[in-house]
Amino acid sequence: MDLQLSPDAKCLSATSHMYVLDNDVPEDPGMFDVIQQYNSELSRLNRHGGLEALGLQIRPAPAGTGRFVGSESCRECHQIIYDNWKKSKHANAFATLVRRQRDNNPGCLECHVVGLASEDGFNGIAATPERVNVQCESCHGRASRHVQARRADKSKTTGQMPPVQSQSCTVCHDCIHSVKFDYSDYWKKLNHGQISR
Ligand code: HEC
Ligand code: HEC
Ligand code: HEC
Ligand code: HEC
Repeated sequence: MDLQLSPDAKCLSATSHMYVLDNDVPEDPGMFDVIQQYNSELSRLNRHGGLEALGLQIRPAPAGTGRFVGSESCRECHQIIYDNWKKSKHANAFATLVRRQRDNNPGCLECHVVGLASEDGFNGIAATPERVNVQCESCHGRASRHVQARRADKSKTTGQMPPVQSQSCTVCHDCIHSVKFDYSDYWKKLNHGQISR
């Protein structure tokens, strides 16, 4: 920001520009240390007191929706879709946070795990290592009823999963975290849904 001040420190004019601090901008050593300290403190809090020590409250799962069961439970019947998902960035979204030492930051976890701070979702890496990453149920919703019904009888249509809409993507692919998001482009990249099982 450029400010022009009068001798008695009144603002005469101001112009400002936005700069994105991408990888081409070197780290500021002083600020880098502050952030490192902040990350270590979050990690210490999480180790000792779990998500609650980070200021989150564990919520009950909404009534009438079933429970999260995890992508591993889908594999037995949807092997091809599972294999495609496993190779996708969604299946590695938590590692991305670990690499950046942001895996204890509630503001980042939200979109990089399943059901942050829901009792059947991610409750911390120690308690629920199987709820990391963007999984099937991040888009499809809780699937316990579907799994139960289809295990009982694969030909039945009970336990039908609701359709996924583009709003299901934009809760995470919002204009801050996914500037280039375009539903049809991104959907094609996933190579999913056009094939059965
Ligand atoms: C016991 C087998 C079985 C398991 C386990 C299973 N499914 Fe399915 N699923 C089916 C069958 C059978 C269909 C209907 C035929 C098809 O599309 O392949 C189906 C269809 C679907 C559909 C399309 C909509 C619908 O309800 O017909 C979605 C979405 C889906 N499954 C998601 C999942 C997810 C997510 C999981 C894991 C949490 C999962 N399924 C686990 C058997 C299963
Ligand atoms: C729960 C949050 C969440 C939802 C819902 C979600 N995504 Fe993502 N998506 C992510 C995250 C986080 C990443 C980045 C993962 C990484 O690289 O660590 C990502 C990455 C992707 C990528 C890879 C981008 C690339 O550059 O290769 C595609 C494609 C994508 N998402 C498509 C979709 C589509 C289409 C939907 C909806 C049908 C969707 N996503 C729903 C969180 C989500
Ligand atoms: C509102 C949901 C949301 C939140 C909150 C969020 N992310 Fe993401 N993140 C995404 C999505 C969606 C993508 C994929 C963007 C794309 O490819 O278009 C992504 C991608 C990334 C990537 C790029 C992965 C790659 O392949 O290069 C990094 C790094 C990342 N996020 C780190 C973070 C960190 C650190 C935080 C916390 C400061 C955070 N995210 C918070 C949704 C989110
Ligand atoms: C990024 C979001 C996203 C993720 C993650 C995701 N799906 Fe889907 N899935 C969709 C969308 C969108 C569709 C197509 C629209 C619909 O059927 O609702 C779909 C369609 C399906 C279908 C129906 C396919 C057909 O041919 O009719 C099945 C079955 C399915 N998904 C299972 C899974 C399983 C199993 C996983 C995890 C291994 C998974 N999905 C992960 C978004 C997702």
